[in-house]
Amino acid sequence: MGAQGKKGRYQRLYKQLEELLAKQGNPLSRMATMVAVLHHKMEHFFWTGFYLLDGEELIVGPYQGPVACQHLEKDKGVCWAGIHREESIVVADVHSFPGHIACDPRSKSEIVVPVRDAEGKIIGVLDVDSNKTDAFDGEDLAGLERIVSLLA
Ligand code: SME
Repeated sequence: MGAQGKKGRYQRLYKQLEELLAKQGNPLSRMATMVAVLHHKMEHFFWTGFYLLDGEELIVGPYQGPVACQHLEKDKGVCWAGIHREESIVVADVHSFPGHIACDPRSKSEIVVPVRDAEGKIIGVLDVDSNKTDAFDGEDLAGLERIVSLLA
């Protein structure tokens, strides 16, 4: 999909999710709905899900795709880096990211977007993996950050 195609797709998904989430207040239901929509509408998404802070732990939340790690080793990998840096991270080649945690050997590139609550506190990350190298660009970053902001 070209950059323009992606941009339009993210705009449509934002609108669809805005309408769907307006009807649901439960945070886990909202996240489950979000990953279902994203995973099935974006063909370059191989694994789509949330990792959520539980005290000092980062544990898997609602997701779509192959079975993933249930718990991520503390302060290691891309998801923890997104939590600590408090910003989104695009990884073109997961093998070049120090400490990357491979839940599935088919994952080749990855994007992580921090999730904040209504007070702005980081509660976890949205994590998307692709089975192709360099699958995520600035349109994915902007589109996913906007969509994730619906959860605040
Ligand atoms: N690769 C992630 C772990 C989660 S899986 O991609 C589903 C990381 O390095 O934090």
